[in-house]
Parts: sequence; structure tokens; C-alpha cells
Amino acid sequence: MPHAAHRDWWRESVVYQVYMPSFADADGDGMGDLRGITDRLAHVADLGADAVWLTPFYRSPLADGGYDVADYRQVDPRHGTLDDFRALLARARELGLRTIVDIVPNHCSEQHPWFVEALASPPGSAARDRFIFRDGTGPDGAEPPADWQSKFGGPAWSRVPDGQWYMHIFAAEQPDLNWENPEVVAEFEAILRFWLDLGVDGFRIDVAHGLRKDLDPPLRNTYGGDSASLNSPPSGENHPFWDRDEVHEVYRRWRKITDSYAPPRIMVAEAGVSAGRLPLYTRPDELHQAFNFFHLRCPWDAGSFREVIDTSLAGAAAHGTLPTWVLSNHDVVRHRTRYAVPEGTALRGWLMTDGREPAPDDDRGRRRARAAALLTLALPGTTYLYQGEELGLPEVADLPREALRDPMWERTGRTVKGRDGCRVPLPWTRTGSSYGFGPGGSWLPQPGGWGDYSVEAQTGDPDSFLEMYRTALTLRRRFLGDETFTWLESAPGELAFRKGRVAADGRAAALECRINLSGEPIPLPVPDESQLLLTSAELTQDQATARQLPPDTAVWLTSTIS
Ligand code: NOJ
Repeated sequence: MPHAAHRDWWRESVVYQVYMPSFADADGDGMGDLRGITDRLAHVADLGADAVWLTPFYRSPLADGGYDVADYRQVDPRHGTLDDFRALLARARELGLRTIVDIVPNHCSEQHPWFVEALASPPGSAARDRFIFRDGTGPDGAEPPADWQSKFGGPAWSRVPDGQWYMHIFAAEQPDLNWENPEVVAEFEAILRFWLDLGVDGFRIDVAHGLRKDLDPPLRNTYGGDSASLNSPPSGENHPFWDRDEVHEVYRRWRKITDSYAPPRIMVAEAGVSAGRLPLYTRPDELHQAFNFFHLRCPWDAGSFREVIDTSLAGAAAHGTLPTWVLSNHDVVRHRTRYAVPEGTALRGWLMTDGREPAPDDDRGRRRARAAALLTLALPGTTYLYQGEELGLPEVADLPREALRDPMWERTGRTVKGRDGCRVPLPWTRTGSSYGFGPGGSWLPQPGGWGDYSVEAQTGDPDSFLEMYRTALTLRRRFLGDETFTWLESAPGELAFRKGRVAADGRAAALECRINLSGEPIPLPVPDESQLLLTSAELTQDQATARQLPPDTAVWLTSTIS
């Protein structure tokens, strides 16, 4: 059976993330749209991905890149129409790609009819109960109900004219919904069915760990326990709004819905929780997958990667599943740049402020990004790729201040630039209007020379990122199905492992990956030239002509040793 037709295709697949505003723009308004994606979808299929995940394209004032939804059943006119979405689904199917859409259940837009109604209704009304409205504290209730902080800076509470406050973990334009309210529960189940009936293959669940809160009075303060950066686990246990046990009830109900479709649809959680708690989201009656941000945050160090890999595999295995792997997404500094700056700054990356960025060592970033891709794609499980990583795009660190759109920029009093640097529209062609992004401009300025990274410039160049990714994804398919993972003997600072097993007759049925994270070349024993499948950089030879794996390099081999 071809992999794409397999019912459990998602266990070991490659999902390509499309950041809606920045993939391709068909109508020339500078904003990515569904028709643009449909026109360029062959790129994702040619790359060898199994599925595409689209970030929100629903009707939205775009206060947070579409993660502020005003109508969950409509397409925003800047992104197209429902018919455009149907056409995209059909094209994806034609190309053998699955389609996963984003669902944003923790909060909606301040322009959602429910919130408009809540503002027009009195305190204590049913309309307000769909959200988290509370009286303030202090004299005249002029202080927020609790000390909860927004992930984008400032308090997680805003005051309305009648004196009450409403809660928003993110921007003030994104009021949190009250998941203790049965109407909210029912509405999202209906929304899931709406998109499932249209034919989507799954959902990526935004802020999956935030839906349920401890709302028992008096609200508990967090004393800074919610100040971790986006996607990082909150400190402490029994947090008033992160990762509460009750949230799992929601996913048990959702799983029944997705399983009622044939073939069953899948769900992946975006949940910034601890490594110990993450696997709870993928219990057999809950979600299929959860993003593995530990891999994304892992320092460039063999011991750390080994620990993340072991913990991820064991956590998933406890529930009979496989982990996911991810290096970049629309919320973090692109990994080519993270790997190019000194360790530590990389992780604070998306919070980097003007003038404080260390100078990137681009050669190091390039080498490490290529090696990390081979490491990641060799592991058992599903890899999520972020658009543009296959082109080796760096972060655009020097966007002009007036161009910044991330709500974090304003909410932090213009001290934190935010995430726009990884969201600059893709270059498709060497030259031309917005480098092929669309016939008009682009909503974020593309830097000069952006066309050198384009699909056009890299196609056919064997040393390019794009051709390496294409080859890796094609080769990877040969080794799907056997989920066995074995660490192999390795030198200090090197990681070596095998995915799959070598057949009894010695037939090459397993994929071996070696990566050098030490600062020195490491001897690479390759008995037979034909075993060498792919390298992230050229191998070197020492004087005795033994082959060597240079620093920051990964290699794929077929395993013949039993
Ligand atoms: C996580 C999304 O990935 C991010 O882009 C968004 O700002 C927040 N959730 C809020 O929806």
C-alpha cells in the first residue's frame, strides 16, 4: 500500500507548515492567499512531504496573524473564499497531500460576534459567561482580578467601560473563552465537524494546554509562574491556567469526533508543557501527536540531543505512539540563524531586542541547519517542516521598525521585536515582483538578495538546501514502516543511530545516521561506498585517506551491520 494511502500515515510522515500570510499571494494584495497556495502546492509535493498544515485563514482582523478568529466558518477575504479552500483541498488530494488546518479554541477575536455581544451585555449575563469576565481588585476594582501576565507582555486582563475586566493570555484583541461554559464546548465541536465535513484530514490545536482554567474564586495569583516564553513549560504545578488535568476531557470528546470519520482524522497539539506531561496529550483516546519543542530548543550538543531523543521516544512509546520533531515554526527565530548565534541567545531569539543581537556566524548556521535536518528526518516519527527551511532561509533580523506587525512589539512598549523575522514572504524566483511571492508587493519587506534563496535559484543545484531536502525526503520513504530505533557506538561528541533493522540476509533495510557535534573531525568507517546515501556537507579525508565526518556535518548510510 502506498504510504499516503495508509490509515496510520501520520505515525511517520513529513508535514509542511504553510504560514498563511507568507507562502504565496495570487491576487497581488501583498498578503498570502489560498489560491496562491493552490498554485504553488506542487512545490510541497515535489519536496516529498505527506501533508500540509495551514495556519489560520479564517475571517480575522489579523491582530495576531489570524490567531484572532472572528468567524470560524468563513475565510478572510484577504485569504480568499470557501470555494478557494475547496479547490485547495482538491488540488492537495490530486497531489497526494493531506491537509491539516489550525483550530484556535483558547481565544477568539474581539470582533467575534460573541465578544461583541458580551461587551454590550451587563456583568453576570450569559453573553459574558462565554468569556472570563471578573470584577477587579483594589479600590474601585481598578486593579486586575489576578496578577496573570499576557504572553505578549503586560497584564492578561483588560478593563471594559463598565469596570469589569476580561482575561486574555495573548493580546487584548484575543479574549479567552470560558471552557466551563457548555455553549463553548458545543460550538467548537460543531466547528470541527464543519471542517471535517468539508474534507480536512486533521487539526493543529493552538494553545492546546490553555483551555481549562481554575476559575474558582478567589482567582489565584501566579507570582511570575506564567512568564516563560511562548511554548515553554510554565514553572510549578497546579498552575491556574496552564496544562490543567481538566483540559484532557476536551480532547477525549474531540477524539470521538475525529474517529467517527473514515478514515479517521488526526490532531496535533501545540502544548508548551513539561516533557513528563506532554505524552499525556497523546494517550490513545486523546490526540495523535504533540509538537516536540524540546527538540527545537535543544542546544548544539550530543548529550543534550541524545537526552531529548530518548525522552521523546520513551514518552511516546508509553502510549504506543511515536514522537514528532520540529526545528522551526512561525513563532521562533529560524534555526539557521539560531545555530549561527552563540548558544543561549538562540533560545531567547524571538525576544531579541534591537541592538542586542550577536553577529551571526552564517557559515556555522548553514552547516548546522543542514546537519540538523538530516538528524531530524532520520528519526522515527513525524517531522514538521516550516516553510522556507527547505530553502535554508535565515531570520530577517533587520526589519525596519515601522514594518513590524507582531502584537508583541507594541505590547512590550516597542522593546521586543517579536516574530516577524521568520515570517517574511517566501522567495520563489530570483527576481521579479516580490521574488515570485505575488504580482504585488509583500506585507513584510523582503531583504535585497532574497531571490538567491528562491526555489528557482536552488532547483538543480546539488549543493543547495532545497536539493538536499528533496533527496532526504525521497530517501526517507525507503525506510518507513519499521519504527525500531537503536543507538550505535559513536565517538565523543558524535551521535549515531539506526532506524529500522537489518534483515537476516544482511540486506540493507535500515537507515543509519551519524552527526558530528564535536568541534573536531571524526573518523567515518564506511566499508562500502554504496552505503553512503547523503551528506549535509562534503566529507574529508585524513592523510591515511580514511574518510572523516567534519564538524557540524551529518551523514546517512544504509546499515549492513547486524
Ligand atoms: C500559538 C501560535 O503559534 C502563535 O502564533 C499565536 O500567537 C499564539 N498561539 C496565540 O494564538
